[in-house]
Amino acid sequence: MYRLEKTMIQNESARWDAVRSRFPGAETGPYLDVSGRSLLFEDGRTALNAHLDALSAGAVDKAALFETVEDTRALFATLIRSTPDEICFTRNVTDGIAAFGASIEWKPGDSVVLCEALEHPANVYPWFGLARKFGIRVKSVAPDRGALSLDRVADAIDATTRIVAISAVSFAPGFTFPVAELGAECRRRGVLLLVDAAQAIGIASIDVQKWNADAVVASTQKGLMALYGLGFLFIRREIAETLKPAYLSRFGVEQEGHEADLGDPASDVYAPGARRFDVGNYNYPGIVTVAPAIRMLLELGQETVQDYVHGLAHRFTDQILDLGLPVFGGRPGPHSSQIVTVGADLGSGHDSTRDHDMLSLYEHLRANKVRLSIRRNLLRFSFHIYNNERDIDTVIRLVAGWVKHHRNDAGALTRV
Ligand SMILES: Cc1ncc(COP(=O)(O)O)c(C=O)c1O
Repeated sequence: MYRLEKTMIQNESARWDAVRSRFPGAETGPYLDVSGRSLLFEDGRTALNAHLDALSAGAVDKAALFETVEDTRALFATLIRSTPDEICFTRNVTDGIAAFGASIEWKPGDSVVLCEALEHPANVYPWFGLARKFGIRVKSVAPDRGALSLDRVADAIDATTRIVAISAVSFAPGFTFPVAELGAECRRRGVLLLVDAAQAIGIASIDVQKWNADAVVASTQKGLMALYGLGFLFIRREIAETLKPAYLSRFGVEQEGHEADLGDPASDVYAPGARRFDVGNYNYPGIVTVAPAIRMLLELGQETVQDYVHGLAHRFTDQILDLGLPVFGGRPGPHSSQIVTVGADLGSGHDSTRDHDMLSLYEHLRANKVRLSIRRNLLRFSFHIYNNERDIDTVIRLVAGWVKHHRNDAGALTRV
């Protein structure tokens, strides 16, 4: 089990240095792209290597693997303040949303409320798939300068609405949504709330009770510092108990005995809560890799992690603004997260942008070993626990150097 040694917690910076030392990639230039994917946590890699060694040697202990599955389910449940019976394993965020959506008993004319312009495709396509299959409607709410207004979402809910689907933190411009307020409204009006926590998990302190969330989806390659191809789906116990998953599986029913025992496929007694959504054998490599990272997050404490990571992003935001560059959303506030997006226009460019100044800055940073991304036309910098003030200083120095060469005498940025 991962334990932060006493000396590590004796003082703040020693603690974060100790964390950083478990991410070798953090020392090869500022890594500011957890929103794309995280650096891999060394202890997760060690656990993965051990799993692969066991496979190579023909020494896999299946009972121990099942134990790791249950430990990991419990760790994730603790991370979002829920219970293990409310958690099942998925392949990714899309899979979790699709599995939840496909288990609802839809009536033609039912609707789902979401914001197509701000949601990741993972939280849009599954609903359009269900619309084709069951004749439901997707009601799209218009964004307001990159934000989703609580009032607009509430206004879009009507008698046909079964689900509201929103992300806790958008992938661009990276704003935090007031989920708890919307959750209270949804609960009051008898509508289910599904939260895409892809950009919040492992960084924001999440409490599904406070959110009033009915379903939450996440994957493990970002804030959970592990691999692609594994996700979690939380479903509130009382809701899960009413759902019939699209797939009936051996692991999704309550039965004793070996997984290969046929049991009684006609018995129709589902496993408790969200466990009924488990399917066949698990993504063991993904699960063994993510468990040490969740343990570390719990040992650090979710509030501590959130304060540290958001603190870095806030200070970075202020320094970018002080250099005269536009941060989308302006000075830090309730809308802020670990994501800082730089540029004036929220557009449609990914990995590249038509804003020549921003593209030039992006190339300058990349050439100097800064890892970042471009989403929706904006430069996206995103922070995690392995980042520190030195990363900020390095990037700010590079940006300041670039600004100096791209300002004309009037102080405006010159087109390059
Ligand atoms: C908000 C959000 N949702 C979902 C995803 C990914 O979805 P999936 O795991 O299905 O690929 C991302 C980023 O990759 C994201 O930023």
